Amino acid sequence: MHKQRENRIGAQLGRAARLESFGGPEKLKVWNVPAPQAGPGEIRIRVVAAGLNPMDWVMTSDAETAARFGLSLPCGYGTDYAGVVDQVGEGVAGYSVGDRVFGTALSRSLADYILMSADGDIASGVAHHTPEGVEDRTAATLAIAGSTAAAALAKLDLGPGDTVLIGGAGGGVGVFAVQLARLSGARVVGTGSAASAGYLSSLGATPVTYGDGLAERIRALDGALPTAALDLHGTDTVDVARELGVPNDRICTIAAAVPGVHAANGAEAGPEALQDIAHYVAEGELRVPIAKTFPLVQVRAAVELQAARHVRGKIVVDL
Ligand SMILES: NC(=O)c1ccc[n+]([C@@H]2O[C@H](COP(=O)([O-])OP(=O)(O)OC[C@H]3O[C@@H](n4cnc5c(N)ncnc54)[C@H](OP(=O)(O)O)[C@@H]3O)[C@@H](O)[C@H]2O)c1
Repeated sequence: MHKQRENRIGAQLGRAARLESFGGPEKLKVWNVPAPQAGPGEIRIRVVAAGLNPMDWVMTSDAETAARFGLSLPCGYGTDYAGVVDQVGEGVAGYSVGDRVFGTALSRSLADYILMSADGDIASGVAHHTPEGVEDRTAATLAIAGSTAAAALAKLDLGPGDTVLIGGAGGGVGVFAVQLARLSGARVVGTGSAASAGYLSSLGATPVTYGDGLAERIRALDGALPTAALDLHGTDTVDVARELGVPNDRICTIAAAVPGVHAANGAEAGPEALQDIAHYVAEGELRVPIAKTFPLVQVRAAVELQAARHVRGKIVVDL
């Protein structure tokens, strides 16, 4: 746990990862900033861990993209978090000091203290109660990737008769998508690099290597051809799914728009989808591989590793 800091006039300070100009991870610095105070209708959270997502570096990569997300300078960093409620503003119901929570805080979660409206949502910032049995590092990975996987799978309406092809199955969203698809009874064929095959099998997917010749490799597998597909990386999985006869209305993308197929966004998943995921984790039915953890002071290295796009599972920054 971090030590409480004070500035020269005695105001409480907290660390926060910030950018003073938009760009790559080299722009990220850790600052000591005044700790925000919870106003009416707000809660303050002492963040314990923050999971990284590609959206973090996409949103802050240049001024034009940042403006589309309503971000301005100096800009915070990171969206997923887990922590503990440490202030409760006037008029707030449903939260008490000491409650363990997890959720989203758009581009500001890598900070010792964050404020949240008590009735926010995944886009504005939200705090869900962390169930017993879910540790903070894991809770800090659930909101963006879990909601996105749930929203995408909802478009496909999988059942025990289905085989779903998941492209990019071992990444942050993939680990949730593979396991949620398996929980719905579907068989999963998941793409990854050759080196990720054993890891994909451990998640419950039949592994297949992405790249040229993917359709032939899938045809050569034992078992039925895919009846549905989810592309978590780009458009290659969509193309191969169509080639294998999967109808457009059973194909979904999250990383690129493809005319004629579904596109999913994490914001479409209701809060109950995320609570279900947290309970699956608590009950040991779903696990989140955490590839590596970093202290806040090493935030640049954490982001560089995440942005290389070959992480198996999630990267978490400890606060
Ligand atoms: N629409 C939304 O609401 C939403 C929400 C979250 C994420 N996204 C987007 O969805 C994408 C996935 O997010 P994520 O968090 O899962 O990313 P991620 O964790 O960075 O994904 C890494 C995974 O991608 C795999 N991969 C690398 N190259 C690949 C290729 N050519 N074909 C297939 N897979 C490949 C890697 O497998 P190997 O290590 O085996 O190479 C690794 O397992 C990102 O573009 C992100 O921006 C969208």
